[in-house]
Amino acid sequence: MHVAVVGSGYVGLVAGACLADLGHEVILVDNDPHKLKALKNGQTPIHENFLPELLSRHRGHRLNFSDDLHEAVRASSAIFIAVGTPPTDRGDADLSYVESVAREISSAISEYKIVVEKSTVPVYTSEWVRRIILRNGADPECFDVASNPEFLREGTAVTDFLYPDRIVVGCDTDRAAQVLRKIYEPLTSGSYYVQAGAIPQPDRTSIPAPIIVTTTKSAELIKHASNAFLAMKISFINAVATVCESVGADVNQVCHGIGTDNRIGPRFLNPGIGYGGSCFPKDVMAFRSVARECGYDFRLLDEVMRINEDQRDRFLRKVRSALWTLRGKRLGVLGLAFKGGTDDIRESPAILIVQALLQEGCKITAYDPAAMERTQEVMSSNLKYANSAYEAAAGSDALLILTEWEEFANLDLDRLHGDLKYPIIIDGRNLYDPEVMAASGFTYYSVGRAASHPDGVPTGALKNGNGVKKA
Ligand code: UGA
Repeated sequence: MHVAVVGSGYVGLVAGACLADLGHEVILVDNDPHKLKALKNGQTPIHENFLPELLSRHRGHRLNFSDDLHEAVRASSAIFIAVGTPPTDRGDADLSYVESVAREISSAISEYKIVVEKSTVPVYTSEWVRRIILRNGADPECFDVASNPEFLREGTAVTDFLYPDRIVVGCDTDRAAQVLRKIYEPLTSGSYYVQAGAIPQPDRTSIPAPIIVTTTKSAELIKHASNAFLAMKISFINAVATVCESVGADVNQVCHGIGTDNRIGPRFLNPGIGYGGSCFPKDVMAFRSVARECGYDFRLLDEVMRINEDQRDRFLRKVRSALWTLRGKRLGVLGLAFKGGTDDIRESPAILIVQALLQEGCKITAYDPAAMERTQEVMSSNLKYANSAYEAAAGSDALLILTEWEEFANLDLDRLHGDLKYPIIIDGRNLYDPEVMAASGFTYYSVGRAASHPDGVPTGALKNGNGVKKA
């Protein structure tokens, strides 16, 4: 099929490349000439597994880049809108990019097409998109508006698209549903998975992909409710972690105990320094705002956000209680990205913690396998960067782990012990076992678990000389 994808951000670029891999002819439209030039020249603007392969496989063949929205709409039977929906000052989603695309699309609709919302948008957006297209002169018989939310995670976006838990398609007419069923047929029939060159299947996925067809409003709500629920799960376990710390229980054991209940499940139950990224913070706020507009005071979501912010403050208090005063202290920081496996630092709790510590007068050397370049663009020059975790640790008063990169969970502890000035680690992602850390000579603080000490001094006990390396 011929499809247009408008917007070449995370969602648009991944969706465009994957739709081409499913066999469709895709035009990816963007109005940013620099982005288009980079894409045409073979660059991959985001750090995403398998994306470079897909782009080089289809670029110039089934995947073309253009700034001509009008022409792309004319040539396509489905137009996916994947432009940004950033938060406004009030916390709701700014839909002006979606509106301007809808306006532009209308004059190019001369035969039946479906206009598909791919961006995360509040319920009722499809009605507005339809209204705007009609207002600008399109024939009501010539188009339908559908919602097809994306559930991809950064870092695994390509395999999330190709091996989804489910494909959600929200349509109010059979005709529109048929078009979307046809687009996803290679995944729902399984034909994609047997083709030579298919992107390999990740663990814990099942094929073929199920498709759920709903009304457009339900599909819009499914997206917001899914993200809000996942954020709630994280805030819930972070709140439980706080209780664990107060009573001396171990949150990892608690997670195992509750996560083995099939109804709860073990995923998204990792406590830490709170969720970040370009989706959860924005979407929880937007969903809160949508509910308010609909007359429902969704206070549960306020609490989800409050716990998330509090989690960062709690971590900062932990750093203070481990080091006493902060001015002039040298800290090694591992991780700047909002989560492991990405170079994205948007709403990264790691960055917010680093900023707060710099403000308190700490001297920080940070290391992140992918996100240092992006951090350099936005952070003050006070922050120093290292080429490895060990270099970040070298000579530091303590080491902070802020992002759950796999390589941070497999450090050579003896070497680290030798590199640090004082063997103190404050782990915001629970990457290590407190007992192992104590046995390796570290004073180790984590989330929702008792701090451990090489001499076995009970937790929280900040005795004089606590953590000072023995000669
Ligand atoms: C999230 C959703 O997981 C996707 O399903 C959704 O499609 C996407 O938002 C979106 O709306 O576009 P993403 O933002 O890439 O994906 O990242 P996640 O893997 O969900 O992690 C979000 C944050 O939660 C990270 O800061 C991560 O460190 C944190 N997290 C995650 C935890 O603190 N604990 C966990 O157990 C899981």
